[in-house]
Amino acid sequence: MSGYVIEPLAGHDRTAFVSGSERLDRYFHQQVTQDIRRRIASCFVAVADNNSVAGFYTLAATSLAFDRLSAERAKKLPRYPVVPAILLGRLAVAQVHQGKRLGGALVADALLRAAHTEIVGHMLVVDAIDETAARFYTHLGFEPLTDDPYRLIRPI
Ligand SMILES: CC(C)(COP(=O)(O)OP(=O)(O)OC[C@H]1O[C@@H](n2cnc3c(N)ncnc32)[C@H](O)[C@@H]1OP(=O)(O)O)[C@@H](O)C(=O)NCCC(=O)NCCS
Repeated sequence: MSGYVIEPLAGHDRTAFVSGSERLDRYFHQQVTQDIRRRIASCFVAVADNNSVAGFYTLAATSLAFDRLSAERAKKLPRYPVVPAILLGRLAVAQVHQGKRLGGALVADALLRAAHTEIVGHMLVVDAIDETAARFYTHLGFEPLTDDPYRLIRPI
């Protein structure tokens, strides 16, 4: 996406990042580097022209119980108890950059990275923080699990 570079979080300044979600902002300011150090998640940031962080997302390995999949999805898979997946745990775009398709570009970048790692996952799993976020993911082609409307999946 023009105007932004998406790269692994390293020495970027995180203090000025404001997305409007207090929980996600606090996570990005205070917790994310610890999660990276402990191998709980990796984090990628979109850097704007002026070098500020315009958005971020995290990725981690996860799995989904086979019986939580819809019949339609399940019939395409072997009947192992769990299905390997990649978790897009957190995603946020800074308020001043929202509405410019950066959120969609970050999800596309996450799908690409998930498709190109050697440790495979069958789908990308996202946890929406609220109804608005769930609608955003549905708009991008994710489908909610039947037993949890805030956990959505999209095949990789
Ligand atoms: C949700 C969020 C990531 C969206 O980022 P964004 O950069 O503003 O969204 P984009 O401009 O990339 O939108 C991409 C597409 O989704 C649509 N969209 C955006 N928000 C939407 C919503 N709440 N419901 C439905 N569609 C939505 C856009 O219209 C756009 O559609 P189009 O490409 O067909 O025109 C951002 O608003 C944000 O960080 N919010 C606060 C934190 C949050 O809610 N995070 C969600 C993860 S839990």
